[in-house]
Amino acid sequence: MTEALDRLREDHANILKLLKVLEHQINAFETKGDLDQDIVGGIAEYFLTYPDRFHHPKEDAIFRKIAGRAPGRAADLGDLLSEHEEIGRQSYQLAETVRNILQEAVVPRNHLVELAGEFMDLQRRHLQREERDFFPLAREVLTAEDWAAVEVEIADQDDPLFGPSGEARFQAWARDIVNWDRMEAEG
Ligand SMILES: [Fe+2]
Ligand SMILES: [Fe+2]
Repeated sequence: MTEALDRLREDHANILKLLKVLEHQINAFETKGDLDQDIVGGIAEYFLTYPDRFHHPKEDAIFRKIAGRAPGRAADLGDLLSEHEEIGRQSYQLAETVRNILQEAVVPRNHLVELAGEFMDLQRRHLQREERDFFPLAREVLTAEDWAAVEVEIADQDDPLFGPSGEARFQAWARDIVNWDRMEAEG
């Protein structure tokens, strides 16, 4: 019944991993001017491919069900739907900016640093709020029927980066992320 929440929580853990990698990349860019466009562009691309097309729509469907059952409490959660749109917009801008740098268009360095900083802040705040308020409320007020309807509305999709059948375009840098994660774990 709440398998959907388990999956969403797993997505959050993956997103947090990517944000750490992004932070590391942006710090290197800020201090040394080094930019691994495959990784930074790939992260933005991933957000447009999976969170934007699956994770957020699934949460939107759950949010609407909560709004149907407990409108006042849904309102207290704030505007998750607009935040998803904003995350989508920022992912697109990030992808565009990296593409421009790749094409050697003149992009001030601090533009990318600011954009990525804003993106990471918004994401982290958003994930925290969802885990603290949104998921527990969903678990509390949704019925088995609601969960089944959510599953029908937004069918499960493979994660192209962390899922079992990773897409080739993400493979080039997926290994870097795994290595990086291991380095972190080893301290
Ligand atoms: Fe969300
Ligand atoms: Fe989420």
